[in-house]
Order: sequence, then C-alpha cells, then structure tokens
Amino acid sequence: MLVYWEDNIHALGYDVIDAGHRLMIDVINRLNTYDRKRGERDVVGESLAGLERQMARQFHHEEAVMVLSRSQRLAEHRRAHGRFLDTLAALRHRHEAGEDVVALVLVNLVAFLTSHLRGDDVDEFTATRVGRRAA
Ligand SMILES: [Fe+2]
Repeated sequence: MLVYWEDNIHALGYDVIDAGHRLMIDVINRLNTYDRKRGERDVVGESLAGLERQMARQFHHEEAVMVLSRSQRLAEHRRAHGRFLDTLAALRHRHEAGEDVVALVLVNLVAFLTSHLRGDDVDEFTATRVGRRAA
C-alpha cells in the first residue's frame, strides 16, 4: 500500500468527509498497482467517476458545515474544491479519449490528499468538531 488510513489519526468525525478521504486512499492504492498489460483501463475510468461523485457529495457537505460555522475560509475552500473537481473531470475526459493518465491521476490525488484533505480539511473540521463537542 502506498497510503494508509487509520481511524484514530485520520477520522474527522463527519461520515461523508471520512468516506471521501477513505475512497481517495483506496483509489490511490488501486491505481498504484494498476497494470497496463492486464488491460485494467476500466479501473481508471471507474475510479475517476466514483471519485467525482463522492468528492462532489463531500464538498457539498463540507461547504454546508462551513456556512453554518461562519467560516472565514469558505470562499477559498470552495475554490479549491472547484479546481479539484475540474481536474478530475479533465483527467476523465483525457482517459476517455484514449490517453494513459494513470501517472497524472496519481500525482494529482496524492497532492490533493496531502495538501487539502490532510491539510485544509483537518484544520477546518477538527476545529469545528472540537467546537461542536465543547458546546
Ligand atoms: Fe475541503
């Protein structure tokens, strides 16, 4: 495995957000062992389509929580979500056009995992969760 999920370290306590983060890790690990010779092209298309659906759900949920918590970082966070969804769609279109995009997908997913999911999301939602528990 290239990337691991550990509940006690990575779970933020929001089911939709945690499910999205788990799916991202699952796709990264699946594509890391992708084998062109075995003709696993469907794995790439299915992974990208699944990620687009789950990330859209997750981002919608995150943004709703941020509205409720009156986060000052909502606009910036929303732009990052939009850019990532645009990237996923562009990569899926290139894949559908016959291009081998596995390496590009992996780089983009790992970068987004480390910078946003384990960076911005942790900063934003750990604080929100702690605040909610304290209330
Ligand atoms: Fe986010």
